Amino acid sequence: MATRVLMVCLGNICRSPLAEGAFSALIGAEGLADLYTIDSAGTGKWHAGEPPHPDSIHIAHQHGMDISSQRSRQIQADELTQWDWLIAMDTANLKHLIAMGADPERTRLLLSFIPPGYSRDVPDPYYVGGFGEVFDLVQTGCQHLLDFLETG
Ligand code: 4NP
Repeated sequence: MATRVLMVCLGNICRSPLAEGAFSALIGAEGLADLYTIDSAGTGKWHAGEPPHPDSIHIAHQHGMDISSQRSRQIQADELTQWDWLIAMDTANLKHLIAMGADPERTRLLLSFIPPGYSRDVPDPYYVGGFGEVFDLVQTGCQHLLDFLETG
C-alpha cells in the first residue's frame, strides 16, 4: 500500500504547496510515484479554495514544477489517522497538529530530516517574502524525507 504523506503549514498557500510539489517531483523523477500518496493542507482556513501564493507558483515554475492547480484546504481532525506521516513546516504547526490529536511519532518537522538533527522551521514568507530561500529549504528537506522513507 502507498505511504501517505501530508505536508502541513498555516495557510496552505506558501510553504506546504511547495513541499507537495517538490516531493511529487522527486518521487516522479525516481520512479516512486506509485508508492506514495502526497497532499498538503493548512491548520488555518483563511485561504480555503485558493490556489497557491503567486510567488510560490513562480518559484516552483522556475524549478520546472507546476503547482498552480493545487487548492488550499484546512486539515480536519478526522483525517489525522489516515496519514502515515504528517510533515509540518514549522514548530507552531507541529504543535497545532499534536494538540488536534496527531500521533507525535508520526508528526515531524520537514527540516528535521536533514542530518544531523537539523530541525529549524521553514520560515513563513507570507508577510516578509524570501520564497527563494523557502524553496531551497523545502527542496532539501523533501530529499532527506524521501531518503528517510526509502532507507529508514
Ligand atoms: P503558509 O503561509 O502557512 O506557508 O501558507 C501563510 C499564508 C497565509 C497566512 C499566513 C501564512 N495568513 O495569515 O493568512
